[in-house]
Amino acid sequence: MSVLAIDAGTTGVTAVVVTPDGKIEATGYQEFRQHFPQPGWVEHSAEDIWQATIEATREVLTKVDQSELTAIGITNQRETIVLWDRETLGSPRRAIVWQDRRTADICDRLREDGHEDRVAELTGLRLDPYFSGTKLMWLAENEPHTWALVESGRYAVGTVDSYLIARMTRGTWHVTDVSNACRTLLFDLEAGDWSDELCELFGVPRDALPDLVPNWGEVAPTDPRVFLGLSLPIAGIAGDQQSALFGQTCFDEGESKCTYGTGSFILTNTGSSVVRSDAGLLSTAAWRSPAGEMTYALEGAIFVTGSAVQWLRDGLQIVGNAAETAAIASTVEDTDGVVFVPALTGLGAPHWDPHARGMIIGITRGTTRAHLVRATLEAIAFEVRDVLETLPELTTLRVDGGASANDFLCQLQADHVGRAVERPEIVETTALGAAFLAGLGTGVWESADDLRQTWALDRRFEPGGDREALDACYARWGEAVERAKGWG
Ligand code: G3P
Repeated sequence: MSVLAIDAGTTGVTAVVVTPDGKIEATGYQEFRQHFPQPGWVEHSAEDIWQATIEATREVLTKVDQSELTAIGITNQRETIVLWDRETLGSPRRAIVWQDRRTADICDRLREDGHEDRVAELTGLRLDPYFSGTKLMWLAENEPHTWALVESGRYAVGTVDSYLIARMTRGTWHVTDVSNACRTLLFDLEAGDWSDELCELFGVPRDALPDLVPNWGEVAPTDPRVFLGLSLPIAGIAGDQQSALFGQTCFDEGESKCTYGTGSFILTNTGSSVVRSDAGLLSTAAWRSPAGEMTYALEGAIFVTGSAVQWLRDGLQIVGNAAETAAIASTVEDTDGVVFVPALTGLGAPHWDPHARGMIIGITRGTTRAHLVRATLEAIAFEVRDVLETLPELTTLRVDGGASANDFLCQLQADHVGRAVERPEIVETTALGAAFLAGLGTGVWESADDLRQTWALDRRFEPGGDREALDACYARWGEAVERAKGWG
């Protein structure tokens, strides 16, 4: 008995097979192309995401005994919006990605028209281009021919999970879960359902949206004719950050995690109540059980952390890979006064400025690549500290995601936040969470306690360093962030 999990992330798709002891038996991965058609715009070809899903799955299947697979779980980059033809399953245009800033003006307009408070009350979110609702408004306003086919019912609208499930079931199923739905600005958080009021405000026909299903439990089988001969029950769905919360077994109120991926996302389980923050955190759905019980979370969403390292690699081409950043940063004592604010797609929590842009300040003739690399890793730690400053009761931070493998970053993080950082043995927690959900939905695991047993600590980083010096650096960061705001 083992579970296949697909993690359709922002830059690539990972497929893993998880065994009943909670270990990852094998992995497949396929990156896909990022499109930047204009400054601040980010798009993905939905077909590329589907092909990457097939390729990553094909790879993992070569490494395992397929007859052992019992279920499939799906997790995904959230907020990204996909349209597809219900008949052909082809997409009429590229997906608009969560990082895309094109709707900053629409958000300003909605704010000026006095909608912000009501939207926040219903959704737990803010008026920011990050979320899907204004992306759909933009499509209606700028691509009316495409939008007419959404209104006529020919095109379906959904997040990436929903699109992949449609592809895997040959268009039979159009479903999503609460952790994805609640990021669209169209979902009433307390009611746990799509909101007619919000659909009207954003001009989205409710019929174009997917049906809601629980986060675990059998939904539908994959169609072997389109999915590598596999007929497996899709039995777990969650947006990637909620999936990571589940994968870290943060099932109880107050338990938290920070995932370092393209961005970094800190989620704290708030149990059955929607907790509101006046410090820039989002209220969000974590998951819903088959019995209908909702679990909520508070979230600090930071847009650019791992992707800043990716930019050093692909944009500036000053590092060969992410792993070598730790060694490069360690060659210098400090950044020599250089501060990098990686607001490459605006600023998320807790600052929320879609008009902010990236900034590197403090460069001199003596600045080297090592200073810049170190400033990038420091920026990640500072961004996470900005969020954790709003969560004083948190004592230990559980970390995961690609960059959590970086010891230098984990230590820097512990030093800066003044709290212990715990890294589990398995840091591919997003995919693990989707496997846990699907396995819980099909009896591979019976209970939350079974899952908890599988969590194992790899390393605990204790906070250290010179507090005064650390705080002085952090104060400089705060000044730099203020300068980056409003630039775009
Ligand atoms: O909200 C965006 C988030 O879901 C993207 O996650 O892991 O692709 O950075 P990731």
